[in-house]
Amino acid sequence: MKKALLDLLICPACLPDEIQLKETIKEASGRDILKGELACPQCRRVYPIENGIANLDSNASFGRTSLENKYETAQVVSAYLWSHYADILNDENASDAYRRWADLMQSHGGVAIDAGAAAGRFTFEMGQKSDLAIGLDNSHAFIRTARELMRHREITITLKQEGHITTDVALSLPPEWDSKKVEFIVADALALPFRADSAASLSSLNLIDKVPRPILHLEEMNRVARKEGAQFLLSDPFSWSEEAASEADWLGGKTSGPYAGKGIDNVMALLNGNLNRLPPRWDITSHGHVWWKIRTHANHFEQIRSCYVKAGR
Ligand SMILES: C[S@@+](CC[C@H](N)C(=O)[O-])C[C@H]1O[C@@H](n2cnc3c(N)ncnc32)[C@H](O)[C@@H]1O
Repeated sequence: MKKALLDLLICPACLPDEIQLKETIKEASGRDILKGELACPQCRRVYPIENGIANLDSNASFGRTSLENKYETAQVVSAYLWSHYADILNDENASDAYRRWADLMQSHGGVAIDAGAAAGRFTFEMGQKSDLAIGLDNSHAFIRTARELMRHREITITLKQEGHITTDVALSLPPEWDSKKVEFIVADALALPFRADSAASLSSLNLIDKVPRPILHLEEMNRVARKEGAQFLLSDPFSWSEEAASEADWLGGKTSGPYAGKGIDNVMALLNGNLNRLPPRWDITSHGHVWWKIRTHANHFEQIRSCYVKAGR
């Protein structure tokens, strides 16, 4: 983990108290901490850094969704590597989703936070538009993979063709994606390990319908966003399911009660100051949809209409 993150980090288990973590560095290479610990002086919790990977997951979501293990499997990691980088591989079936989302973001100084970063594509995009982009995910397999790409700048992706037939393809990162400007950590999007007012830009792509408490995710993103001079991109297919969150916690997809109607409309209303849940209020600068694609095997793709809202304050 890059030492530059140290100033930003707080204990996610002590929220809403924001307690700065105290580092012990056991092994480092230049600006990278390879082995060490981050300790909370209040709750005494210790967050490990092993092989450069900081685990700041306070387990706020632990055991609360049955989707969690899915994102640790090699097959899903390879499907997301394809989804994130197929255009870089010049695959004829690639979508342009990540370029389209990136085009919605302005360049700025300071920190960008990409929640639910998976294989890291959008974090790399934000690394080009900020001083430092931090991708977080509670899947260790994803963060290991994204960090491997960050460090070695190349990776072999094993793509399923059909049944047990696979093909290996070699991915190399474009030279303009600067590894010095990105970092990936294990963390929970419902208990962000960052102090308030710390990020100039925030992204939550295809995540809000996968977490057990969607409103808590929005509140956490709002807490760490700068009060002034911040941009926020949220995009999601709003595939609400009881597997991820109980219906009472969905922010849409209901015919009555709180958050009845469409998820995108309710998220826009929340950002816009409705219910005063996300102060200070955001201005919606654009909204629309992006077609996003996931590949299962050579003859099976999932095309997903991800509805986005871009806001600023
Ligand atoms: C549908 S994928 C979207 C990945 C990526 N944002 C994209 O759009 O390509 C959801 C991602 O969120 C991660 N995730 C799910 N619950 C999370 C949580 N509570 N905290 C952090 N990451 C989470 C998963 O591991 C997975 O990488």
